[in-house]
Amino acid sequence: MENQKKSDIGLIGLAVMGENLALNMANNGWQVSVYNRTVPGIEEGVVERFMDGRAKGKSIEGYTDMASFVQSIAQPRKIMMMVRAGKAVDELMEQLFPLLSPGDIMIDGGNSNYEDTNRRVALAEEKGFLFVGSGVSGGEEGALNGASIMPGGSKEAWESVQPVLQSISAKAEDGSPCCQWVGPQGAGHFVKMIHNGIEYGDMQLISEAYWVMKHLGGMTNEEMADVFEGWNKGRLNSYLIEITAQILRHREADGSYLIDHILDAAGQKGTGKWSVINAMELGMPLGLIATAVFERSLSAQKDMRGLASTAFPQSDVKQVADRETLLSNVYAALYASKLVSYAQGFSVLQTASDKFDWNLDMASIARMWRGGCIIRSAFLNDIAKAYEGSEKPKHLLLAPYFTAEMNELLNGWKQLVALALTEGLPVPAFSSALNYFYSLTSTDLSANMIQAQRDYFGAHTFERKDKERGEFFHENWTGRGGNTKSGTYNV
Ligand code: 6PG
Repeated sequence: MENQKKSDIGLIGLAVMGENLALNMANNGWQVSVYNRTVPGIEEGVVERFMDGRAKGKSIEGYTDMASFVQSIAQPRKIMMMVRAGKAVDELMEQLFPLLSPGDIMIDGGNSNYEDTNRRVALAEEKGFLFVGSGVSGGEEGALNGASIMPGGSKEAWESVQPVLQSISAKAEDGSPCCQWVGPQGAGHFVKMIHNGIEYGDMQLISEAYWVMKHLGGMTNEEMADVFEGWNKGRLNSYLIEITAQILRHREADGSYLIDHILDAAGQKGTGKWSVINAMELGMPLGLIATAVFERSLSAQKDMRGLASTAFPQSDVKQVADRETLLSNVYAALYASKLVSYAQGFSVLQTASDKFDWNLDMASIARMWRGGCIIRSAFLNDIAKAYEGSEKPKHLLLAPYFTAEMNELLNGWKQLVALALTEGLPVPAFSSALNYFYSLTSTDLSANMIQAQRDYFGAHTFERKDKERGEFFHENWTGRGGNTKSGTYNV
C-alpha cells in the first residue's frame, strides 16, 4: 500500500452524478479513489457494484472505509463530495476533519445552498483546510462527458483543483473549458442557483410555446418538433430546445406519443425557489423565474384545477388560420421573454456581487454556461460579448445588440400574449416578461399611488417629484392625523 501511487483525487458519493464524475476523471487520465458509505438495508454494496461494473479496468480504486480512502489520496488531498445537499454535507465534513491534513481541499459538487457554503468555507478554513463549493450542471450526461462547473470558495484551492476540474468540464466551441473560478465564499453555488432558476424559466417558456402552438395552431407533435428543430438552427439554438424536439417525437411501443401520456404536474427540488427567495432578499425583480416556480406549484394542484375547470368551463380555443404569423409571434414571445429572464438573472448576480463583494465576472459566467450545462445556448455568446466591453451595460437589455433585438421582437410578442389571453390560454411567463418590459421601460409608474396610500394609512412618507430625492414628506390626509411620521426605511 505504502509504495502504491496515491490517487490524484478522491470522490465520495456514488449516486449517478458521483459515478459519472469519477469515470470522467479516470477517462481524463486521473487516478481516482472513490468511497460510499454503507448503511445496512439502505446503501449496501454500492462501491463493490461500481468497482465490478462500470469502474472495471479504469484507474479507480474503491473504498468502504473512510480512513483508508483518505490515506489513498496524494496531498494536498482533493476530495469531491457528491452527496445530497443539506445535512449530509455537514455530517460528511465532520467525519473527514479528523482524517485530513492541513491544506487538504474539500469540494462540494452538490446543489448546496450558498449560505451553507459561506459557513462551510469559513469552518473549513478555521480548521486549516480549504473548501470549494462548486455548482456542477449537465445532468448524468454532462457529469460523464463534460459538465459546466462553477467553483467558488477558498481561492487558494484553485491552483490545485483547476487541472482536474477543467479537464472534466465541457469545452465551448472555441475550446475554452466551461469551468472558471467564480469567486469567494458561496459564490459558485449562488451562480449555480441562478443557473437553475434560469433553467426553470427557460423550461416554462418552452412549455408555453408548445402549448400555444398546440392549441392556437392546432399543430401535431411532429409539426411542433419540426418548428423546434428549425428554431434550434437559429438564435434560439440551445440544449433545451433541442431536447424538446426529441421529446415531441418520442413514441411508446403502441405508436402513441409519450408526451401525451405524461401527467401535467411538475416537480421541483428547490433551487428555483431559492433563486426567487434570494432575489427578494436582494430587493431585485426576478418575476419570470418566480412565475415559473409558482406555475410548477399550480401544475401540481391537479385535482384543484380539475375542480375549478368544472366551475369555470372554458369555451373552445379558436384556432388561427394564419399559421405562419402565429409561429413568428410565438418565436418572438419565446425569444424576447428569454432575454428578459436572462437580464433579470444577471441583474441579481450583479447585485449579489456588489453586496457580498464577490467581484463576479458576468462575461466569464456567460461563457461558462455556453457548454455542458442545461441552459447551454448559442446566445450566451452574445451575453458574454455584451459584458466584455469596457462599457458594462447597466442592464442587459440596454446593451445595443439586445436593445435592437427587443425592438424587433416586441410587436409579435405582444400580439401573441394578447391573443392567448383572449382565447383563455395561460401564458404566465410570456406575459410576466412583457409586463416587466413595459414597467422597465416606463419612466412613470403607478407607484405614486402606493406611496400615497402608505402615507395615508401609516404615515410612511413619500418623496415628491418637485423636490430632491431623499427628502421625505408626510401629508395630514384627513385633517385628523397628526404630523408624526413613521420611520423611513426600505428593506
Ligand atoms: C443541472 C440541473 C440539476 C437539477 C435538475 C432538477 O444543472 O444539471 O439544474 O442541478 O437538479 O435540473 O431540478 P428540479 O428538480 O428542481 O427541476
